[in-house]
Amino acid sequence: MPALINPSILSADFANLERDLQAIAAADYVHVDVMDNHFVPNLTLGLPVVKRIAEVSPVPLDVHLMIEDADRWAPEYAALGAASVTFHAEATQAPVRLARELRSRGVRAGIALRPASPVESLLDLLPEFDMLLVMTVEPGFGGQSFIEGMLPKIRRARAALDASGGSTWIQVDGGVARDTIGRIAQAGANVFVAGSAVYGAADVGAEIVALRQLADA
Ligand code: DX5
Ligand code: ZN
Repeated sequence: MPALINPSILSADFANLERDLQAIAAADYVHVDVMDNHFVPNLTLGLPVVKRIAEVSPVPLDVHLMIEDADRWAPEYAALGAASVTFHAEATQAPVRLARELRSRGVRAGIALRPASPVESLLDLLPEFDMLLVMTVEPGFGGQSFIEGMLPKIRRARAALDASGGSTWIQVDGGVARDTIGRIAQAGANVFVAGSAVYGAADVGAEIVALRQLADA
C-alpha cells in the first residue's frame, strides 16, 4: 500500500481554515487535532468547527482526539462526517466497545498511544482497530522534534501485525518531516501526519508529494 500523507491543520492558519484546507487537496486525509486542555495542556477546536471542516474539506477527515472521556465524545465526531476517528488508549474505559461503535457507524476506528505507553498490551486488540497511532512527540503541540526511541515501538507493532496477518494501519504523528519520514516508513508505519513540515513549506502541495515519495522510496 502506498504511504498516506495526512497534513495536520494544527499548523494551519485558524483564521483561514478553508484556504488552508484547499491547499492540501493533494493529501490523503486532513488530520484534525482536537484538544480539551485536560488530556493535553492545549485547547484547539471542537464539534461545531470540525463539522464545518468536514463540509468544506477536499479530502476526508482523520480526527485525532486528545481529550478525556473519549467514550462519551468519539461517537459524536463519527456522527458529523469524519472518515476516521482516533482516541487515546489512556482516555477510554472500554476501547473495544468504542471501536465497535465507531465501526458500526461506518467510520474507521483508531487507537493512539502517548510516547510513554507501551504497545504490548494493545497488540491482541489490534484486529478491533483500523489504525494504531504511535505518537512520536508528547501530544499537545506541533513543531516538536521526533523522539527517535519510538522507532522500536513501531517495529514491534509492524512485526506483530505481519505475524498475525493483520491489516491495521500504523500511523505516526509528531516530528514527521523530510529528514525523518524515511526511517519511520522503514520501521513499518504507512500513514504519516505532518503539520509544521507541510504548512511551513513554501509550496504546500509539492511538500505533500515529496514526503510521499520519500516514504515510498
Ligand atoms: C500534536 C499533534 C500533531 C501535530 C504534529 O499533539 O497530534 O498532529 O500537529 O505536528 P508536527 O508535524 O509539527 O510535529
Ligand atoms: Zn495529531
